[in-house]
Amino acid sequence: MRSLPISRRCLASGLAVLALATVSAGPARAEGEAIPPNVTAVPLGDAEHGGEVWFNECSGCHQIGPAAENAVGPNLTRIFGRRAATIEDFEYSDSLARQGRDGLIWDFDTLDAYITNPRTLVSGTRMGYPGLEDAEARADLLAFLRTFSDSPRDIPEAPATARRIFPDLPPEVLAIQGDPEYGEYLASECTTCHQRSGANEGIPSITNWPEEYFVLALHAYRSGLRPHPVMQMVTARLSDEEIAALAAYFATIQE
Ligand code: HEC
Ligand code: HEC
Repeated sequence: MRSLPISRRCLASGLAVLALATVSAGPARAEGEAIPPNVTAVPLGDAEHGGEVWFNECSGCHQIGPAAENAVGPNLTRIFGRRAATIEDFEYSDSLARQGRDGLIWDFDTLDAYITNPRTLVSGTRMGYPGLEDAEARADLLAFLRTFSDSPRDIPEAPATARRIFPDLPPEVLAIQGDPEYGEYLASECTTCHQRSGANEGIPSITNWPEEYFVLALHAYRSGLRPHPVMQMVTARLSDEEIAALAAYFATIQE
């Protein structure tokens, strides 16, 4: 995958600054009002540059547009507002199919999270894509994808002038070293549903995961990005340290 030419990036960042100035004057937040700590202003994306990002990052596996067909990945025409894993004739991973059944809808937040790091939202996804770290390139790409909706005008350019910072967990949260013994103590609640043996009948197996995927998954429930109500409730009570401890404990369990 080629990275984008530097000059383009600089141009895009200049535009983004301009766009940001326009956005912050928008209706959802009065001028001069402080941005709450857990949200970030979202610059409008540049759809034209987004087309280049699409070409470099996605078009090897996906098609988009009126004549799009399924390829390595499902076709992405009218992806905004579409429920996850609903293209007929495409064989999705169990993991993405489950998120679709739970009611995951593709919108700015969920698409942004999936493109940043596919496993945050869908731990067992078959999308073999490492993620796109550059927030600006993602905003441009989303603006491009939005143009393939039935009525892009009905989809706001960004969900509001501000939104949660996610899944960019602060690095210090991802860096917390979990205490596996504390994790074992906390895990008794989890293993009423998740089998200690790692058996995977109906309820997904959560043993032996890389700790980072585990932490990202639990934060994705806690923030409401992943729709499952039971796991949202379970994680609402957990602190960052407890999430790290659980990740450390479950990572050590051998089947
Ligand atoms: C290496 C191939 C590959 C690349 C590159 C790739 N994808 Fe995917 N994508 C897939 C596959 C395979 C799936 C199905 C995943 C599953 O079933 O878990 C998928 C699924 C998706 C879905 C879910 C669609 C649905 O119907 O629910 C979206 C959205 C998506 N990809 C967007 C993108 C975007 C945007 C890019 C570029 C940044 C990209 N993908 C790059 C292979 C790829
Ligand atoms: C009442 C049953 C129940 C309890 C208790 C429970 N879980 Fe879950 N968990 C589920 C179900 C059902 C899913 C699948 C949710 C979905 O579709 O997203 C799940 C999903 C998960 C996932 C993501 C799995 C994947 O493949 O994406 C992780 C990680 C997880 N749980 C960890 C935990 C931890 C840690 C605890 C304890 C603090 C816990 N769960 C307690 C039922 C439970």
